Amino acid sequence: MRLDVDIRKKAFESASGKRHEVLSDVSFSLAAGEVAVLVGPSGCGKSTLLRILAGLDHDFEGTVERPLQARLGMVFQEPRLLPWRTVDDNVRLAAPLADEEALAKLFDVLELAAHRSHFPGELSLGLARRVALARAFAVDPDFLILDEPFASLDKALAARLREQIATLVANRSAMTLLVTHELDDAVRLGDRLFFLSARPARILRVVPIATPRAARSEAEIATIKADLALLNLAAD
Ligand SMILES: Nc1ncnc2c1ncn2[C@@H]1O[C@H](COP(=O)(O)OP(=O)(O)O)[C@@H](O)[C@H]1O
Ligand SMILES: [Mg+2]
Repeated sequence: MRLDVDIRKKAFESASGKRHEVLSDVSFSLAAGEVAVLVGPSGCGKSTLLRILAGLDHDFEGTVERPLQARLGMVFQEPRLLPWRTVDDNVRLAAPLADEEALAKLFDVLELAAHRSHFPGELSLGLARRVALARAFAVDPDFLILDEPFASLDKALAARLREQIATLVANRSAMTLLVTHELDDAVRLGDRLFFLSARPARILRVVPIATPRAARSEAEIATIKADLALLNLAAD
């Protein structure tokens, strides 16, 4: 399983008919089991890139190759749950083939077991995010896309969610693409970090992290973060 991305250009047309470029020469590959993290300023084109990679937008110049049979799990920036369906139904509808045991385990890891019969309107943002994550993981994805899963959560909640995602990712060999603003999340979760420029987004720098994710010490994480801060690449 492998993703090959070679996007030469992506542009949007505004209502006045003016075209503005959003992506420019974004090329990289991703292998099974690898976690790539995209870090870039707000509005640079990250979500646009993820939508193209998910196959939701075909209007661009270049190529994206991924195996046709790859199962996709996607978490959008907003949880996008069906409001008239329970948590349980939201997940089951997306993954009709998931077995009971796998679902129970997933709800367990994400600490959602007590919320399965709740409706999205009854959930906090943090809970709704976790349901969106459960929905993405329930399909047992080969290709996982997470668009800012920690945004607007307080630090403690974000850290907890990061641990849960790390656990779920470690138990699979999916190709994973994660967008985050936090260097800390990037360094803890990623195998390769892609720093993007302001719009039109291009790759400014790729930073591989050699130590396996689970083996990174706090000291090493701090050192990598300090090195990256010196490069002054991190987004807003
Ligand atoms: N459907 C669209 N039509 C026109 N412009 C869009 C559309 N989607 C996004 N854009 C524009 O493309 C740029 C990148 O947006 P986005 O990919 O959402 O950025 P990011 O996720 O990095 O914050 C922004 O300037 C945004 O206004
Ligand atoms: Mg976005």
